Amino acid sequence: MAEKIKVLISEEEVDARIRELGEKISKEYEGKQIHLICVLKGGVFFMCELAKRITVPVSMDFMCVGSYGDGTKSSGVVRLAKDLDESIENKEVLIVEDIIDSGNTLYYLMDVLRQRKPASLRLCTLLDKPDRRVKDVHVDWTGFEIPDEFVVGYGLDYAQKYRNLPYIGVVEVAE
Ligand code: PRP
Repeated sequence: MAEKIKVLISEEEVDARIRELGEKISKEYEGKQIHLICVLKGGVFFMCELAKRITVPVSMDFMCVGSYGDGTKSSGVVRLAKDLDESIENKEVLIVEDIIDSGNTLYYLMDVLRQRKPASLRLCTLLDKPDRRVKDVHVDWTGFEIPDEFVVGYGLDYAQKYRNLPYIGVVEVAE
């Protein structure tokens, strides 16, 4: 099977939107330091680009979550595969994600992190698929709302490929 990638959101559009988000976030956190938390692996491309557009001081940490069982997320049961290196107590925490789909991952993650008593806990996602939501997750900043299509690029993969595309594409599988 071969697949083709159709551009959904161009590199220029993504770059412009990240610049806007960086400005909005910098204003919101004026006079403070932001502790960015990247959810691996997908969130890494967006976090690096967003961090470059933020003008207040930032620190960063990384975590990795996965799902139990057969690899599907339908159970809604999430496991922590790699925890943060540093405490988040009293920090202005901003979680940076590539996509919110069912909401299961972020619902779990926000709950875990809230218990660690950050000064604030907010969420920024590049992409949001609201039609797929199962769990109610409050998103503070969204790059783009997208339809329920299989997307790749900017950290998102198809069988681990295409994460490095500088745009968001839709996978079209040809038999
Ligand atoms: C993606 C994405 C989120 C999660 C969102 O990660 O980065 O973490 O799925 O889905 P949900 O809202 O349905 O929980 P994925 O599990 O594909 O891992 P990856 O980033 O390592 O590719």
